[in-house]
Amino acid sequence: MSSVKPEIRRITTHQLQEMKNRGEKIAMLTAYDYSMAKLIDRAGIDVVLVGDSASNVMAGNETTLPITLDQMIYHATSVVRAVKRALIVVDIPFGYYQGSSGEALRSSIRIMKESGAHAVKLEGGSEVKESVLRILSAGVPVMGHLGLMPQSIYKFGTYAVRAKETDEANRLLEDAQLLEECGCFGLVLEKIPSELAGRVARKLRIPVIGIGAGPEVDGQVLVMQDMLGITQEFKPRFLRQYADLNKTINDAVRHYVSDVKSRKFPDDSEKY
Ligand code: KIV
Repeated sequence: MSSVKPEIRRITTHQLQEMKNRGEKIAMLTAYDYSMAKLIDRAGIDVVLVGDSASNVMAGNETTLPITLDQMIYHATSVVRAVKRALIVVDIPFGYYQGSSGEALRSSIRIMKESGAHAVKLEGGSEVKESVLRILSAGVPVMGHLGLMPQSIYKFGTYAVRAKETDEANRLLEDAQLLEECGCFGLVLEKIPSELAGRVARKLRIPVIGIGAGPEVDGQVLVMQDMLGITQEFKPRFLRQYADLNKTINDAVRHYVSDVKSRKFPDDSEKY
């Protein structure tokens, strides 16, 4: 019997397109570090997003705005070391692509070169068109992000559902089509009405991944710490919690503290 392990086939942007074409849903989660990225990759996740939500869940900031490009590259580099199968997409953080398309290209090149990730994601529609085109011209795959865009939270003023009104819904549809025409390989839609998200997904050829955008899209993305129940304060309607790691970790650490204090740990089998 051969001891050669079968090669793990890497998910590519082309495979995501094929998944949409054959109606197979795409599963995407965030990750920001080696250990968790390795776990979710081995569990069969299709796309790992090194999201700028790292600013919230890893650094404890109130918004995604403070995280820097260097910090995103640090997180992405750790994730890249762990992931063998999934496609790795990295958010370009706030302030590193809005200034000019040249800046957007430089930021993307740094992400790709220094981390080894496979694609970048940025927020916005027509206002980022030049940047999207410039990044794509360098051969870097781009994923769009419309609907609730956390980098614009101070403009929106709230994390409420976006595009409920016809004007904003029509603009979102136009922006989605524009991003596809520019050459984006995929699009994230965050917190918009399910019916609108379904319309976008049916209109676009490229995969549309939703978060709080209902079931009629081509895939789903969640922040890992939220779906594992590590985050406690954040419980929007769209969030399905698949585990209660907050409780599990709390119980384990209390048990450990108690064992250390009561001298139950370490025992004879745990010493040299
Ligand atoms: O940063 C992030 O985690 C994201 C997802 C919410 C899509 O952009």
